[in-house]
Formats: sequence, C-alpha cells, structure tokens
Amino acid sequence: MEKPIVQKSPATSRRKFLGGAAFAATAVNLPIEACAQVAGSDEIKLALVGSGGRGSGAIDQALSSGGTRLVAVADAFDYRLEPLVSKLQSHAAYGKRVDVPESRRFTGLESYKEAIQHADVVLMATPPGFRPMMFKAAVEAGKHVFMEKPVAVDSPGSRMVMEYAKIADEKNLKVVVGLQRRYDAGYQEAYEKVKKEGMIGDIVAAQCYWNGGGVWEPSERKPDMSEMEYQVKNWYYYNWLCGDHIAEQHIHNIDVINWFMDDQHPVAAQGMGGRETRKDKKYGQIFDHHYVEFAYANGVIMNSQCRHQRNCWSSVSELVVGSKGSCFMNGSSAVIKDNTGKVVWRNRGGDGNPYQVEHDRLYKAIRENTKLNNAHYGAASTFTSILGRYATYSGKMVKWDEALAWNNSEMPEKLGLDSTPVVLPNAEGVYKVAVPGEFDPSKPLG
Ligand SMILES: NC(=O)c1ccc[n+]([C@@H]2O[C@H](COP(=O)([O-])OP(=O)(O)OC[C@H]3O[C@@H](n4cnc5c(N)ncnc54)[C@H](O)[C@@H]3O)[C@@H](O)[C@H]2O)c1
Repeated sequence: MEKPIVQKSPATSRRKFLGGAAFAATAVNLPIEACAQVAGSDEIKLALVGSGGRGSGAIDQALSSGGTRLVAVADAFDYRLEPLVSKLQSHAAYGKRVDVPESRRFTGLESYKEAIQHADVVLMATPPGFRPMMFKAAVEAGKHVFMEKPVAVDSPGSRMVMEYAKIADEKNLKVVVGLQRRYDAGYQEAYEKVKKEGMIGDIVAAQCYWNGGGVWEPSERKPDMSEMEYQVKNWYYYNWLCGDHIAEQHIHNIDVINWFMDDQHPVAAQGMGGRETRKDKKYGQIFDHHYVEFAYANGVIMNSQCRHQRNCWSSVSELVVGSKGSCFMNGSSAVIKDNTGKVVWRNRGGDGNPYQVEHDRLYKAIRENTKLNNAHYGAASTFTSILGRYATYSGKMVKWDEALAWNNSEMPEKLGLDSTPVVLPNAEGVYKVAVPGEFDPSKPLG
C-alpha cells in the first residue's frame, strides 16, 4: 500500500490538516464533510479540471503521492474525460482511490463549478485562458489548488490571480503552480550556488530561450462544429485561450530568470516578432517567433527568445551573467564558468521528477499546515510573459504598471460550447493577427 510522503501525527484531525478547506467550511458554519464527498477519512480529496495531456500527468502525480483520492473530474468534452477516468480506474496502484461515479463527472466549459465543490484540492489543467475564473472560484470555495502555468493570458486575468493569491494567503490555502523548474533539484542547486554562495557575483544580465519546432497541428474544422468548439479544441492558436507561446511555453524560462532576480519582475519590455513560417489561417492568431528585451528596475536586462520554426537553432535554456562569472542552465543540468570561461562548477541533473515533487510538496504542506503559495510568483511570471507579447505585438515599449491596468479581455461573457467567441474570423476564415506599429495591446485584438 502506498504511504503518504509525510505521516501526520495520529492526533491531527482531518479538520486541522485540511486547513483552508476547514476554514472555509467554518466560515459558513458547515462541517468539513460538506466540502468533501467522502466523509470521515483523512484522504485528501481531489478534483481534476481539464483531463487532457497535462491533466492526465498531474492526476497521476497527485495519486502517486499517496493519501489522496480523486473524487471528481471536469472537462469541456466527454470524449476527453471518459478515457482518462477508465484508464485511472484500471490502474492497479490507485484502486478505490479513483472514486468518480458518473454523478461526479462533469462536462462543459463551466463544469469546474460543480467539480470543485466535491474536493479539498482542485487540479487545474485546462487551457490557461480559463485559469483566473477557476482559481477565483476555488479560492472563494476555500479549496487548495494545483494549477498549471501560465495562470492567465491578459491583464484582467493576471490582476484577478494576483488578487486571489492574497485571498488564498488570508484563507491559509496552499497553492502550487506548475512551474516545475522551481521544484527541480538541479535548478535548486544552481540557485544555491548563484544566490546563496555568490559564485557568479551580482547578476548583471540574463538570457533565456524556448526555441524549437513548435507544437501540435490544429485539428480540422468539422461542418457541425460551433466556432467555440473549434477554438477550444485548437486553443493553442487563440490568445484568449492560450496567450501565445511566449506565455504558454517560454514562461518556464522567464520564470527562472525572475526567480534568480529575487522574484523582482521586469518594469518594461520592448521587442519584435511575427509569423514567418506558420502563416496559414488554420494557425489562428499567434506569432511563430518573439524576441524581447525585458528591463528590471535595477537596470538588468533579460533577453528572451522563443521560436516555433523548424530547422532552426533550438535551445530551451537560461543564462544568468554575473560580475564574477555566469551560470548556464539547460533542463536540470547547470554549468558555472568564471570570467575567464573556465568551468568552476557543474551539475549533471538533479534527482527526482519535479512534476512529482511539486505534488508531494503540496500535500505535505496541507497535512503539516505550512505556508505554500506559488500564485504570487506564478502570476508575476505569467504577466512578465504577457508583457513580452504586448511588446512584440505592438512594436512599442510597454511598461508593467500601465499594462497591468489594461482592460483587454477577450473572454466571452457567456461561456458555453454553443455561445459565440469574441474572437471571430472574417469571411475568408482568417483571424486577426497583430501588426507591430499598428496594434494597440491595451485593447482586445479581436
Ligand atoms: N508544466 C508543464 O510542463 C506543462 C506541460 C504541458 C502543459 N502544461 C499546461 O497545462 C495546460 C493544459 O495543457 P495540455 O497540454 O494538457 O492541453 P490539452 O489540450 O491536452 O488538455 C486541455 C484539456 O482541457 C479541456 N478543457 C478546455 N476548456 C475547458 C474548460 N473550460 N473546462 C474544463 N476543461 C476544459 C480540454 O477539453 C482538454 O481535455 C496548459 O496551461 C499548458 O500550458 C504544462
């Protein structure tokens, strides 16, 4: 039988170790059992929202942690939800801990509302455009959260997550964001050498890259598909759902630099980008390359590149340059060189799977009631990447404080597979793509 990563003391009650969920229940004078479907157990109840690629991985990690039980699943589509539930139910190691009868399987774009009511912890792995509303709903309901990155796609969404990050603190809720490099032993060791031991001196500049060949191809538009269904299925290519690949992927590298900058965020950005190789209308709105110069308040510049173009130089990595040397990180391996170029320290990859570690830490923090809330840095790194997109889309210098206040949401007021998206194609089926020098990022792109 699996054991929880950290055993709680026998005297610890379920009410006590669930912390935030108990707080919420107390606040409305309900017993904790009202928040959790399976009463009288010390297992942590999970609801998964978004049962696609990452959701499948996240729930595996959550169940592998031990002492957890999946009690509800929500997805936009039945055809995504059912296969995952069946697969989990037949998993020998999970057994009865996959406890999702039909009455706790929910479909539709607002299915999260029902699913979260049944859980202590909500796992969010939908397209990121929906994250702010889901995070808000979970925090309001007093639930702990694991949420994938990015946590928003625009200024209003980023503000919402920043606001609810504070409320999560007030409610003693634990929040982990899927920026797994922060949970990677290799990165943590490099951080130790650079920030605690000062091996490269003061950081004076930084570079980061997510240059690769791109992601999945859009699926075909079927005659009976609504426009909403088409866009949600092909979410990567629409900003209101994805935020463009600078936010969706490159956030990982940007977040590493923000982390090494003591979680300061850039105050301004300017850059360039466009579509050179991925131009067909089926590719919706997103660029295939972005280059951004981010400026921190202390004058340090982070140069960031992300590219989705085949047969070009590829790298997914980060470099911090200091007064005494530099530290290059690539996956979980890292190299520190002194100012003569001599290697003075090398790490060849840390132990453990950071995707597992982030879940283990979440349930440990819940059981031991220790502080854990990644939503603050998750929102800051998300908005850093969005600021970069504003810079490349507009071709202008954009400032953090001004841009964060913009009201440029493209989230439809009515959310359903039969409702109409704000973003629509023209008569030829072509979606609006930002033109630098013309586009004003304070407004919706449309
Ligand atoms: N940390 C990482 O390394 C990592 C890796 C991959 C993906 N991700 C993140 O995970 C998220 C999901 O990515 P993915 O690759 O799993 O995508 P995916 O398309 O495989 O899965 C998304 C799922 O969400 C469902 N969905 C869409 N709208 C929904 C809604 N309103 N309510 C409920 N379900 C909804 C879809 O039907 C689909 O099953 C993204 O934010 C992505 O950036 C993170």
